[in-house]
Amino acid sequence: MNPAPARAFAPGRCTLVGEHVDYADGVVVCIAVQLGVTVDVRPAARDAAVGPLPAATLQALRERGLAVPPLDIRITATLPAGAGLSSSAALCCATAVAVLRLLGESIPARELCDLALHAERDIAGVPCGPLDQRAVVLSPADGALVLDCRDGGARAVPWLDGYVLAACHTGVTHDVGGDGYRTRRAEADAALALLGARSFRDVTPQQARSVGDPLLARRATHIVSETARALECAEALANGDAVRVGELMSASHASLRDAYEVSTPALDAAVAAAEGVEGCLGARLVGAGFGGTAVALVDALHDEACLASMRAALPGAAGRGAWLLVPSPGLAALAPDAIRA
Ligand code: GLA
Repeated sequence: MNPAPARAFAPGRCTLVGEHVDYADGVVVCIAVQLGVTVDVRPAARDAAVGPLPAATLQALRERGLAVPPLDIRITATLPAGAGLSSSAALCCATAVAVLRLLGESIPARELCDLALHAERDIAGVPCGPLDQRAVVLSPADGALVLDCRDGGARAVPWLDGYVLAACHTGVTHDVGGDGYRTRRAEADAALALLGARSFRDVTPQQARSVGDPLLARRATHIVSETARALECAEALANGDAVRVGELMSASHASLRDAYEVSTPALDAAVAAAEGVEGCLGARLVGAGFGGTAVALVDALHDEACLASMRAALPGAAGRGAWLLVPSPGLAALAPDAIRA
């Protein structure tokens, strides 16, 4: 074993289109961002008291048969927790890679995604889907990632030259372990059962709209239409069609607000403010909703104006964070020593 301390940085992720579909066989288009979580580990006399996510990750590594010694763990982050930008997945993935480096071990990228999901969902008990871990690990060195959560497919599409994502925290921390997220997942399952379908990918928009229970019909309509938008977004990125990407982001927000009902007045205000700025092509909430961050696609000439306008719409939230996010390499691209293709 290498007794020297080891460090790993994992990026957060920002969804472009494809929210609340990862646990329903859907398609997601997202990027890894430059903000992230850094984890330092070094052998110690006993495991330091760390939070539930690093502890769950150590357990998952030990379950895998790795001889993980007692560790001292230090965490620093440029990515805030509860912002909807995958800080939890970044923390689990960075912890795992720091430990792999300490041990001089490596792991296939897909297995790292599964290990981090197992740690967060099964050991720590957060009912998350598979999106965040895959985005953190598999995002390309340059460009956006298209994830198919039905068959596990992952492919890269180019980013839009001259565009960035202006992101602003609403000041309300969201909670994937909270009631809202659990309820949406249960409603998605109930809608699928009423449809008598094996997968939402087999459900047409017309079938989704005609689910007997009106609330479940809205939930099913979001899931089916959001995957259609994500597929169109992937095509628009491949064609360099920034205007269409922006339209799809705004349509995604409207569906999350009206059909899935996971937005908040603050998120709606930040989105509306961004959409009114010259050079902004579309905006939406990012992550699970119920708080967290709003994000806008804007040309680089107007990025600061867009951020300022979003912040002005959220007077109480100043200081919780506003950033210009750009596509950044995923963890597999950053750590080829510890993550095999
Ligand atoms: C959270 C979850 C993800 C996904 C998103 C919504 O980030 O961890 O699995 O469901 O919400 O798209």
